[in-house]
Amino acid sequence: MDFANYLEKRRKLINEFLEKRLAQKGISQVDEAMKYSLMAGGKRLRPLLLMAAADAVGGQGYNYLSVAGGLEMIHTYSLIHDDLPAMDNDDYRRGRLTNHKVYGEPLALLAGDGLLTLAFEVMLEQKNVEPAILVETVREIAMCAGKDGMVGGQTLDLAAEGKKISSKEMKTLHEAKTGALFLAAVRSGARLGGAASEQMLALTKFAELFGLAFQISDDILDVIGDAKEMGKATGSDSKLQKSTYVTLYGLEKAEDMATETLQEAMACLTMFGEKAEPLREITKMMDKRKK
Ligand code: IPE
Ligand code: IPE
Ligand code: MG
Ligand code: MG
Ligand code: MG
Repeated sequence: MDFANYLEKRRKLINEFLEKRLAQKGISQVDEAMKYSLMAGGKRLRPLLLMAAADAVGGQGYNYLSVAGGLEMIHTYSLIHDDLPAMDNDDYRRGRLTNHKVYGEPLALLAGDGLLTLAFEVMLEQKNVEPAILVETVREIAMCAGKDGMVGGQTLDLAAEGKKISSKEMKTLHEAKTGALFLAAVRSGARLGGAASEQMLALTKFAELFGLAFQISDDILDVIGDAKEMGKATGSDSKLQKSTYVTLYGLEKAEDMATETLQEAMACLTMFGEKAEPLREITKMMDKRKK
C-alpha cells in the first residue's frame, strides 16, 4: 500500500475534524488555550490506530472520527497536565512552548479539563453506531483514561521518582500511563468496526504490546533523541530521576526489548490478512522511531 499517502490523508481528516469541532467560539479564553495544544501537531497515533483497527476487522475507519477525535483530546489533555511544573515541568511540547508557559498554570489546568470533558461530548456525537456499542466504547475509553488507566499510571510514575522499582512494577506503570490509551484506541476501533470475539482478543494483545513498545522507545528517545525532531526536550527523565526502561535495563537492552515487543505485536495481526496493512505499517513506523 502507499502508506505515506494513507498517513497524510488520515492525518488531514483527523486535523480537519478537530479544527472544525473547536471552531465554535466559546465564552472565555479557555478555547484558545485548548486549541493551542490540540492543533500543535502531534503524531495523531491514537486516532490513527482506532481507525486502522476498524479497517482491520472489515469496518470503515474513517467513519469513526468523533470517537477518534475525542480520544486525541483526552491524550492532549494528558500532555498539558503532564508538562505542568507540578508534574514533569517541561517547557516544550509538539514543537512549541508548553501550554502553561504561554497561558499560565491556571489556564493550562483548565484547558486540560476543557479537553477532557469536550472529548466525551464529541465521542457521544458519533453517528452510524448502535447506541449500545457506542456506550460500551465510551465507557471503556473512560476506564482506560481514568484511575486504573492513564491517571493511575501517571500517579505511579510520580511515586517512582527517585526510587528503584522492580521490572514488574515498571511494566504495570507503563501499561497504565501509556498502554491504556493505546488499548482504548485499538479496542474501540475494533468494537466500532464490528470485531468478532477472536479478532478482539488478537487486537487486544496487539495493543498491549504496541503500547509497551511505544513507551520503551519514549524512554529511549528521552536519552538519545533529537529535541528538535521530537518537539520536546530530552533529558527530562534523568533530571526528575524517573524510573524508565533505560534506567532499569540500560539503553541497549531497552532498544532490543522495544524491537522484540513490536515484532510480537506484528505477529498478532496475521489472522487479519491484507485488511491489517495499515496497522502493520503503523507498527513498522514505530521501530527505531525518531519522534
Ligand atoms: C507522548 O505521546 C506521551 C506519551 C504517552 C509517551 P506521543 O508521542 O504520541 O505524543 P504526540 O501526540 O505525538 O505529541
Ligand atoms: C507521559 O509520559 C505519558 C502521559 C500520560 C502523558 P512522559 O512524561 O514520559 O511523556 P513525555 O515524554 O513528557 O511526552
Ligand atoms: Mg510524565
Ligand atoms: Mg513528561
Ligand atoms: Mg517521556
